[in-house]
Amino acid sequence: MSSLDNNEDQGHKFSAPIHVQEIAPYQAGKPIDELAREFGLNPDEIIKLASNENPLGVPESARKAIIEVVDGLARYPDPNGFYLKSALSEKYNVPSSWITLGNGSNDLLELASLALLTRGDAVVYSKYAFAVYHLATQARGARHIVVPADGYGHDLNAMFNAIDVETRLVFIANPNNPTGTFLSADKIQSFLEKVKKEHGERVAVVLDEAYTEYLDPELRFDSVQWVRQFPNVVVTRTFSKAYGLAGLRIGFSIAQPHLTDLMNRVRQPFNVNTLGQVAAVAALSDYDYLQKSYEMNKQGLEMLQQAFEKLGIEYEPSFGNFILANFGEKASDIHMELLRNGIIVRPVFSDGLPHCLRISIGLPSENQRFIDVLTKILDA
Ligand SMILES: Cc1ncc(COP(=O)(O)O)c(C=O)c1O
Repeated sequence: MSSLDNNEDQGHKFSAPIHVQEIAPYQAGKPIDELAREFGLNPDEIIKLASNENPLGVPESARKAIIEVVDGLARYPDPNGFYLKSALSEKYNVPSSWITLGNGSNDLLELASLALLTRGDAVVYSKYAFAVYHLATQARGARHIVVPADGYGHDLNAMFNAIDVETRLVFIANPNNPTGTFLSADKIQSFLEKVKKEHGERVAVVLDEAYTEYLDPELRFDSVQWVRQFPNVVVTRTFSKAYGLAGLRIGFSIAQPHLTDLMNRVRQPFNVNTLGQVAAVAALSDYDYLQKSYEMNKQGLEMLQQAFEKLGIEYEPSFGNFILANFGEKASDIHMELLRNGIIVRPVFSDGLPHCLRISIGLPSENQRFIDVLTKILDA
């Protein structure tokens, strides 16, 4: 084996920009196969409650659509996603020219930062907000303005006050990951009005709504109306969560044409693959699957919240498909012990939450197994 195969640092000094050298890579939830290898466990007995995926599996409607196009996979995908954009345009009552498709909504967050930021610009986001805001800002060499949280949630007044002359972008996650907190429509409306009044169109606001389908009906709101009202707003959504298509990597944004056009300029031509496009069209009108996702998640959240209360564990009431719980000094040990028992949850230590674990909602049987194992660990 050569020393390069050995993955040793050869001391090479590439002239990468310092902001790139300083990127701390995103830490994803541990894959099932990896845990099986590490602990010699049977992969079929492992449960993963670590990446906020949909435990119902691929919607049947999407599976059928995927099978129908498999023979065409030697061809590149439609670079403009005609059918998916048409379906989204109808659903959200906006022209197709307002929609950008992404390789997951993660791609849209990157595209917004690529389109709008250059060195010397600044980005405002909340402490404990989705980790990709930090990464997208860092990768552009822009300056981070990380605003102290209100508890575990966004403090929109403080975020407004933090906008300075170099700020070009504000990221808001609603609901937020990893904390599960939620901002009501009236708070967002008044934030957007203040930004418009004070800064005009100089500052873009990305409203990341990856978990919006999990909101109770009385909390839902038509955020696309803000896109109509405010030319500086980009709403991002995903098919990875309530639509059950995380592995296909597909998301979209809605923004007025001038912003959409900029994002499309920096987009890879074939960023959304054929399977993702057809599966998303099918899933978009699969109301039964969506409703089932919502209901199962609601029950799962209640189940976990009740269990935490019984066990005396502090948690943050969640509006997503996951829940953040505070295990104090024992968090790291509990995480390891859960892994040994074949349960993968997500440590969020590097998100500034050293005592917390984030648990994604699973199937009822998976939630029960998590609760049983956790109870055993705490009793030991
Ligand atoms: C708040 C938030 N936004 C965006 C994403 C990106 O998801 P995807 O790229 O799968 O659409 C996630 C993923 O967990 C998230 O939690």
